[in-house]
Amino acid sequence: MLSVKQFPLGRPKRGAWFFLYTLALLTGCDSDSGQAALGKELFDANCKVCHAQGLNGAPILGNQKMWRDRLPQGVDVLIQHAIEGYGLMPAKGGRTELGDEEVAEAVRYMISEVQ
Ligand code: HEC
Repeated sequence: MLSVKQFPLGRPKRGAWFFLYTLALLTGCDSDSGQAALGKELFDANCKVCHAQGLNGAPILGNQKMWRDRLPQGVDVLIQHAIEGYGLMPAKGGRTELGDEEVAEAVRYMISEVQ
């Protein structure tokens, strides 16, 4: 869910934001910020349930300490682990309908939050 904290300009009307978001996705922004927004969208929908609060020891989004030992593996390995599963991390977070590239986009977003 969107939290008020993410919107410094005050509480948004959720419907309006959702509409704009969908529009941005549908119009296929291929700029860097568009990619980042897509990664966040995918993360929020598929990964947040575990990675927002560290369920089963999942590294928490934006928590430098929890990611410190994982980042040196490199982006490609982290993406591979997310796609294939790793320890208590289910393959694709259990969303097997996701494409590999969608999972990769979510991983890149997670990494961008701790760099
Ligand atoms: C059911 C809970 C759950 C969901 C949903 C989930 N994860 Fe995870 N994830 C974990 C856990 C637990 C770990 C820690 C695994 C370990 O180190 O044993 C983890 C670890 C990771 C890692 C680090 C892997 C490494 O090599 O250190 C990445 C990257 C990751 N998850 C990405 C994702 C992405 C992307 C999604 C959404 C598509 C996702 N996760 C959804 C539970 C989850």
